Amino acid sequence: MDRTMLTARIYVTLKPGVLDAQGDTVKSALETLGFKGVEEVRIGKFMLVTLNSATREEAKAQVEEMCRRLLANPVIEDYTFDLEALASAITAKTKIIYLCNPNNPTGTIFKRGQFERFVKQVPEHVLIILDEAYYEFTRENPEYPDSMTYRLDNVVTLRTFSKAYGMAGVRLGYGLGHDYLIGFVNRIKLPFEPNILAQHAGLAALADEDFLKRSLNNNTQVLKFLAEEFDRLGLKHIPSSANFIMVDFESREKVERLHNSLLRRGIAIRPLAAFGLPHCFRVTCGLPEENEAFLKALRMALK
Ligand SMILES: Cc1ncc(COP(=O)(O)O)c(C=O)c1O
Repeated sequence: MDRTMLTARIYVTLKPGVLDAQGDTVKSALETLGFKGVEEVRIGKFMLVTLNSATREEAKAQVEEMCRRLLANPVIEDYTFDLEALASAITAKTKIIYLCNPNNPTGTIFKRGQFERFVKQVPEHVLIILDEAYYEFTRENPEYPDSMTYRLDNVVTLRTFSKAYGMAGVRLGYGLGHDYLIGFVNRIKLPFEPNILAQHAGLAALADEDFLKRSLNNNTQVLKFLAEEFDRLGLKHIPSSANFIMVDFESREKVERLHNSLLRRGIAIRPLAAFGLPHCFRVTCGLPEENEAFLKALRMALK
């Protein structure tokens, strides 16, 4: 059979937001992602993709992969965001683009140049929400685009005391943005929120520079240490700019087996099926004795 001659049409149920996209926009986004042989994309109640593929099964697998990457997780091979693809997927109906940098659960960042090119392509009326929960861990990296240094009117920056400050249970975070946008938040914000104790804890945390320094130093050392140990064990891990490392562990079955085995030894890792990455897990940087306990359990589980 001439493989290039057979065309398969596949129906894929779409998420509500994607229904608004234009077929050509989706087609060019797919091409940007490196998918070859996409003849036509039609958007209706379903997305109809016409492909040059050898068999229906092959076409189905290809479209599933497209959906996984384009619609569910717009990340590319190295697990970074494909900002070009995201920009080209903007339509007249796009209202908000939510980006996490560093990203959870990959730990990757997009860089200054990528961000600067991206914002130029986003219309001013489209809101970009930048979740910078892990900002402190990478703010010294000159390639990191600290969104606050740009002061863009359509960008809202979100940060938290839950990560580098170790205060997740206090429930304190903050948003930075143009007066106009913060005005909308104030209209719906509950009174006395965050509570007074949390606010005082936050002020004390900001004043405690030594704690933050210790927290960040520990993190830098542990990222390096865990990366070296993973290399030694032959595990594929993704370079991280946050306080955790993602490991590509090849298959959902292997991740589940490891997860259960570690749980029996009192160690909790995070399997990432819920993030659309069933073949990966994430492990948080701990204190030295915690990392050692994790590695000991990991080595036993891998035997
Ligand atoms: C990307 C990201 N944003 C926000 C949060 C939550 O922050 P908070 O504890 O302030 O709700 C987390 C924590 O898991 C996160 O990973």
